[in-house]
Amino acid sequence: MRFIVAKNDEELSQRAADLIAAQVILKPDCVLGLATGSSPIGTYDCLAKWYQEGRLDFSHVTSINLDEYQGLTPDNPQSYHYFMNEHFYSRVNIRPENTHVPDGADPDAERACKAYDKIIQEAGGIDLQLLGIGPDGHIGFNEPADAFSVGTHCVALDPSTIQANQRFFTDGQEVPRHAYTMGIGSILRARKIVLIASGAAKKAPVEASFFGPVVPSMPASILQLHPDCTVVLDEAAAAGIRDRIETD
Ligand code: GLP
Repeated sequence: MRFIVAKNDEELSQRAADLIAAQVILKPDCVLGLATGSSPIGTYDCLAKWYQEGRLDFSHVTSINLDEYQGLTPDNPQSYHYFMNEHFYSRVNIRPENTHVPDGADPDAERACKAYDKIIQEAGGIDLQLLGIGPDGHIGFNEPADAFSVGTHCVALDPSTIQANQRFFTDGQEVPRHAYTMGIGSILRARKIVLIASGAAKKAPVEASFFGPVVPSMPASILQLHPDCTVVLDEAAAAGIRDRIETD
């Protein structure tokens, strides 16, 4: 596991974008596992800028997102599909047919999740998976649980996650109580993982995940077992582990 501690948001975003750009340059038809949340927004800004400058080409890239709220359609501004359109798809030359987000509009959870696992399998797995981390250590929407999940599944969101994500829901709209998420097994099978965490609220889950026991009650802790995982932090998120890591 490698750690990068960035001086500010701009450097944090650039360092994560560097790793994604390297993947796209080395394997133009790669499969990127992408994430939503506030953490990767600056990274998508960098990638879009580098595309606009002619430095990156996404025309052969496939993207497979981590998760989606159940019940939200892609045209709902609170859906993760909408987020991806706004922050990434519409700003680069990725082909719409090569972009994938779980179908939150499908009320049949089993069907939607099976279909998503098929997409991951047919794409040949994920080359690089981008992750954020929730305040409770969740990755994707894999909440603390008694066991690590394997494939895509429907989760009941924890009250703390609902509260943390309420900031994106304006006008009195409620955060959906359920979501479809890629499983921990699929995330762990990605050939490379890049996790971004910034801000003081991530200090505790970062410390517990990377220096605590590997337990399903702290889902991101499983990443300790991954052979190629890079954790990109700002000073505040790294505060609990600063004296235990070597950085470059
Ligand atoms: C949501 C997403 C996660 C994300 C997390 C943290 O719950 N499902 O994929 O990592 O939020 O979000 P943020 O980066 O806004 O802190």
